[in-house]
Amino acid sequence: MSQSPDHDIDVLAGHAARLAGVPLAELFQREPGRIDWLAGTIGPLHVDCAKQPVDAGAWQALLGHVHRLGLEPARAALLGGARVNATEDRPALHALLRTPPDEVPPALRAQGEAIAATLARIDALVSMLRTTPGDHGLPAVADVVSVGIGGSELGPRLACEALAGQAGGPRVHFLANVDGGRLAHACATLDPATAVVVLVSKSFGTQETLLNGRVLRDWLVAALGREAAGRRLFAVTANVPAAQAFGIPADQVLPMWDFVGGRFSLWSAAGLPVALALGMDGFRGLLAGAAQVDRHFRDAPLADNLPVRLALLAWWNRVWLGRGSHCVVPYDDRLAAFPGWLQQLEMESNGKRVTAQGEPVTLPTVPVIWGSVGANAQHAYFQALHQGTDVVPVDFIGVVRPDHDLHGNHQALLANLLAQGAALMAGRDRASARALLAGEADPARRELLAAQTSFPGDRPSNTLLLDRLTPEALGALLALYEHKTFVYALLCGINPFDQWGVELGKSLAAKLAPVLAGGEPGDGLDASTRALAAHVRARFAPPPGRPG
Ligand code: F6P
Repeated sequence: MSQSPDHDIDVLAGHAARLAGVPLAELFQREPGRIDWLAGTIGPLHVDCAKQPVDAGAWQALLGHVHRLGLEPARAALLGGARVNATEDRPALHALLRTPPDEVPPALRAQGEAIAATLARIDALVSMLRTTPGDHGLPAVADVVSVGIGGSELGPRLACEALAGQAGGPRVHFLANVDGGRLAHACATLDPATAVVVLVSKSFGTQETLLNGRVLRDWLVAALGREAAGRRLFAVTANVPAAQAFGIPADQVLPMWDFVGGRFSLWSAAGLPVALALGMDGFRGLLAGAAQVDRHFRDAPLADNLPVRLALLAWWNRVWLGRGSHCVVPYDDRLAAFPGWLQQLEMESNGKRVTAQGEPVTLPTVPVIWGSVGANAQHAYFQALHQGTDVVPVDFIGVVRPDHDLHGNHQALLANLLAQGAALMAGRDRASARALLAGEADPARRELLAAQTSFPGDRPSNTLLLDRLTPEALGALLALYEHKTFVYALLCGINPFDQWGVELGKSLAAKLAPVLAGGEPGDGLDASTRALAAHVRARFAPPPGRPG
């Protein structure tokens, strides 16, 4: 392992060229033991990467490269609280949020204490709001409206939806978008006397959250009066003064910190809605599952380290095999929100084109992450995955033991999951397709159909299996992808913890609002956007004489 990372690039290109056109089936023949080094288990989570187009030689080259890039010191810096988010001059301490107090590194004691104190406040709030009736002058809480967007919604909503079957608390409703439809529906259908509103916003400056929050605050005030409304408003934020200015009493504001990025914040007080839905045991289970993966990431040798493996294989597909997108398909309706959560995690983190030092990157960075629940997805876009011209690596996610006893359904679900990975890899050559058409008398038609019914195969996938969908297993799954994202960023040479790319659109939206309202002409906007704004204005305002 003495060569330089630059030299590695040539070596990796050599391996990619050597393996081009080698069928995956042949790799299994040449390397009967590949499952042993390409599959692994952490607690309730099994990860099988054997259907990936690497052999032992390419794999060793990838491992050597990430080692020479400095993964071990980078990982120590991340977990030790170094300011790894250089552009914002902050550490990224999401793993500390789930570290048991007796395992907190001495250098991070102060942050560990702040985290423990906040967890105790979450605990107190959960017992207060889940008790009937509450001790603090609130009647029983039937509904929690959680207002937040991006990282302040995707993770908490995913956890609430995934674990809804184990929840015994109030109903939790998530309001993210500034689209007023859902908000109007919430105001029309919920009872303000038995609802609480939680605004989750690290910055407390996000337009969507503040607009929705104001409407809900006014809804509470109109129904209950200012004082009673105040007791039903909570905030989770790193900007406590802004929350107080909004009208939320300081003792109803739970902290977030600059040392945790929004898309990594599920484990913080941003997870309050999850704790309210599941209770503290469930929330602590989520943290414990993630902590198990944190220990694995910290201690396992690189060759056995599952987040490292996922990152290396994703990078191999993206950079060396030119695959521009990556599909994720959970075979469990409870995980329907997972692809959206992963999109933000990977694409907001690694969708960058300059290095951490500000130089243009020389290799592609993040692929497009997309996907949806299987088996439904099979009946939507799997045609393209099997026979389209682009090769799209897939992560299949399944849950081995269901929480119901319709075992026939569950076996069918898992059979579909396993079948898709197998079919993508094996494909069907033209001769086999022809053989299946032996009953077709017309040779021209047989040839036509053989062309349509053959499959190229050699399409890679990972298979991730959770024993059951428990808080621990979900926590483990999410932490696995968080660490994968960090390692992927190192491979790209970028900072995964900032997100400057979202700012330009936000500032233009702020500029466009008064243009749409009709008060400003839109000087400085391009001609296309100005014309569209004019169209909206004209159609929004009813023509004179007609009712609106
Ligand atoms: O989309 C940009 C972003 O800043 C995300 O990174 C973040 O998760 C989201 O907006 C919400 O931000 P906040 O929690 O500050 O409201």
